[in-house]
Amino acid sequence: MGKQLNKSNKTDDTVEVWDLPLRLFHWALVTLVISAIVSANMSIEYMDYHLYIGYGILTLLIFRLFWGIIGSDYAKFGSFIYSPTTVFSYAKALFSSSERRYVGHNPMGSLMVFMMLLVLLTQAVSGLFSSDDIFTEGPLAASVSGSISSWFTSVHHTNIIVLISAIVLHICASMGYWFFKKENLVAPMIHGKKDKKGAEDIIQHAKPKPIWLAVISLLFSASVVFYVVGLG
Ligand code: HEM
Ligand code: HEM
Repeated sequence: MGKQLNKSNKTDDTVEVWDLPLRLFHWALVTLVISAIVSANMSIEYMDYHLYIGYGILTLLIFRLFWGIIGSDYAKFGSFIYSPTTVFSYAKALFSSSERRYVGHNPMGSLMVFMMLLVLLTQAVSGLFSSDDIFTEGPLAASVSGSISSWFTSVHHTNIIVLISAIVLHICASMGYWFFKKENLVAPMIHGKKDKKGAEDIIQHAKPKPIWLAVISLLFSASVVFYVVGLG
């Protein structure tokens, strides 16, 4: 009985902030982005895999755009858009331990998320039009002029530096919260739950969206990529 009470108390204190589709999206994205970087740096025979991995990343990014509109409340973009004043005052308070607590993406984290998605989209879309002029070309490279394709190729080459810097910053920020603020943000990206205590952004009566909606969104995203690749 006592145990049951404890259990139910515990459930009351937590909120499911990252739903299963978002968590799967995150860790699948991590796996595919690392694989894309590794495959691009291996011998030329692995470039076919690089393209397939790239299509997977594009599918995930399109899925995330849908899920930011129709997904669960904390996954929705609208739930973590903050005014510049809020971002600035959060950043100022960050080093004084007086910052407000958020369960969803905090004002600085939200900037990081939007920046990361934009940099990833730039990398994946530029890849579609890239070509090394010898062995490998993206599926749409032949549909544009040589100069446009070489512009996209140079974007693809330069943006990888921005992407890797953003990833390093992202991992350092997660670790920084863990070590200096004693807030473990990584575990919730695995089990989905966070402690509600003192949070600014609790969404009352937040309901998770059904898994079938995520499956349909993912299938639709994959069809968009299939269609785009077929255009080449
Ligand atoms: C986030 C996703 C991606 C990452 C991190 C990535 C990363 C890279 C890297 C590091 C290179 C080697 C650049 C160099 O030689 O300096 C490369 C080359 C290339 N990638 Fe991607 N890529 C991604 C997505 C894509 C996609 C979606 C496509 C096409 C469908 C693509 C097509 C190509 C092509 C054709 C090259 C050869 C261009 C060249 O070496 O001149 N990539 N990519
Ligand atoms: C290739 C590497 C990675 C990429 C591209 C990446 C990308 C992202 C993106 C796009 C989000 C936003 C999730 C959303 O859509 O709402 C996110 C969130 C997050 N990521 Fe990563 N990630 C990477 C690696 C990692 C690693 C290695 C860790 C753990 C050490 C990590 C921990 C987190 C955490 C904790 C959040 C949630 C932050 C918050 O609470 O506001 N990520 N990541």
